[in-house]
Order: sequence, then C-alpha cells, then structure tokens
Amino acid sequence: MTDRPVIGIFGAGKVGTALARLLVDAGYEVVLTGSPRQTALELLVGVVAPGARVASPDELVAAADLIIVAVPFGKVGTVPWASFEGKVVVDATNYWPPVDGHIAEIDADERSTSEIHAALNTGARVVKSLNHLGYHDMEDDAMPAGSPLRRALAVVGDDPEARRAVARVIDDLGFDAVDGGALANGRALEPGHPAFGRELSAAELSALLAAERVLAA
Ligand SMILES: NC(=O)c1ccc[n+]([C@@H]2O[C@H](COP(=O)([O-])OP(=O)(O)OC[C@H]3O[C@@H](n4cnc5c(N)ncnc54)[C@H](OP(=O)(O)O)[C@@H]3O)[C@@H](O)[C@H]2O)c1
Repeated sequence: MTDRPVIGIFGAGKVGTALARLLVDAGYEVVLTGSPRQTALELLVGVVAPGARVASPDELVAAADLIIVAVPFGKVGTVPWASFEGKVVVDATNYWPPVDGHIAEIDADERSTSEIHAALNTGARVVKSLNHLGYHDMEDDAMPAGSPLRRALAVVGDDPEARRAVARVIDDLGFDAVDGGALANGRALEPGHPAFGRELSAAELSALLAAERVLAA
C-alpha cells in the first residue's frame, strides 16, 4: 500500500462525510458511496465534503486501497463484503441498541461486532477503528502531531500491516493511533466499554486497553 492510499467510504451520513472532509483536507483522494435511497448525492457531497468523489459500490471497491464502512449497524450486510478480498477495511460501525434496537443474535454473540463483520469475508483485512468517538469530535478534536493534548484512537485487527496502514491515516486525520492488537480486543472499543466516547491520550488509551485485556483473560 502507498503512503497515500485512495480511501473509499461506504456511508455518506454523519460519520462518512466528516471523515471525507478531514481526509480531503489531509490530501487524500476520497471516494464515497451513499445509500441507494439518497438522491442528489453528488450535490450533497459537493457541499459537505468538497473534493470527495461519488461513485457506485463497484467503482469504489475498484478505486480504493482502504475502505471505511460507516453505515448503520443494521445495514452492514448491504455493503459488498464479497468484493473486499485483500482490502484493508475499517469497520467504524457500532451496535447501539438505542438506535439499532436489540438484536437477539448480537446480544448473544461473544465476539466483537467487527469479528462478526470480518466473518462476512475472511479475506478482507478488517480493522476496527474510528468507532469510539462522536462524528462531531472527528473535526473538533483533530490536532497536529506532537500537540500535548492530542487525542488517541485505537486500531485493532488481525493483520499487523493493515493496522499500520490505518494508524498512518489516523495520524493524518489528527489523532495519535494506539495499536490494540488482535480484532478480538475490539470489544473494549464498543459502546458500554470504558474507551468508548472518552477523550484519552495515547498512554491512557494503551493502559486502558491493556487493563481490559487482563480482565477479559
Ligand atoms: N454518529 C456518530 O457519532 C458515530 C460515531 C462513530 C461511529 N458511528 C457508527 O458509524 C455508523 C454510521 O453512523 P452515522 O451517524 O454516520 O449514520 P448516518 O448519519 O445514518 O449515516 C449512514 C449512512 O449510510 C447509508 N447507507 C446505508 N446502507 C448503505 C450502503 N450499503 N452503502 C452506502 N451507504 C449506506 C445510510 O442510508 P440509509 O439512511 O438509507 O440507511 C446513511 O445515509 C453507524 O454504525 C454508527 O453506529 C457513529
């Protein structure tokens, strides 16, 4: 993967457009695919994320080196996982019962939701990240590298090179990246767990992820 991967985002909602704005500002080529229900998407993206390009799902997958899934949890199955073979895929989604309702099979599943999604294509290099901060914080909390108050975001996934690729993007977005190891560690980033929604430094987030791993062991 090049230093500046082309980034494809599924979901042109709150998260997808906030990320698109930041990524375009950081010099990335960004391709967005919205909901089949969204009309005039090019007009919308031209206003809220100028510089990003709208494309079909097939075009996005062909163009993107790194894909971000930012669709509602219940719609994750509608993105074309079968075509994600070999791609680095950031799962930014959350299972959030107040919004998504309670889903009995998810409630009963011990895996992190990103492990569940990764099973949709075991050839995709899935990384869980960008899910544990609010979309408004993505722009409000971004800071240049080296800023003393810079916020940290975690990257977890089973492919170390994919984690490193996502970490570089996170640094360019304006956050310190913390390598949290295997995808199974991603539960610590989910709603109801202590890293979710908290503004933490890299040292604080690393310590918290380590503590969660001890508790889970
Ligand atoms: N909001 C936050 O602060 C935040 C922060 C971190 C993570 N997240 C997670 O990130 C995900 C997106 O959140 P959001 O707040 O951005 O939601 P949102 O504003 O509802 O945007 C999601 C967009 O994705 C569209 N979509 C559905 N299926 C699609 C598909 N197959 N391809 C392309 N687009 C599709 C949706 O369209 P339809 O309306 O037609 O379904 C909607 O326009 C959720 O899983 C959420 O839990 C949210």
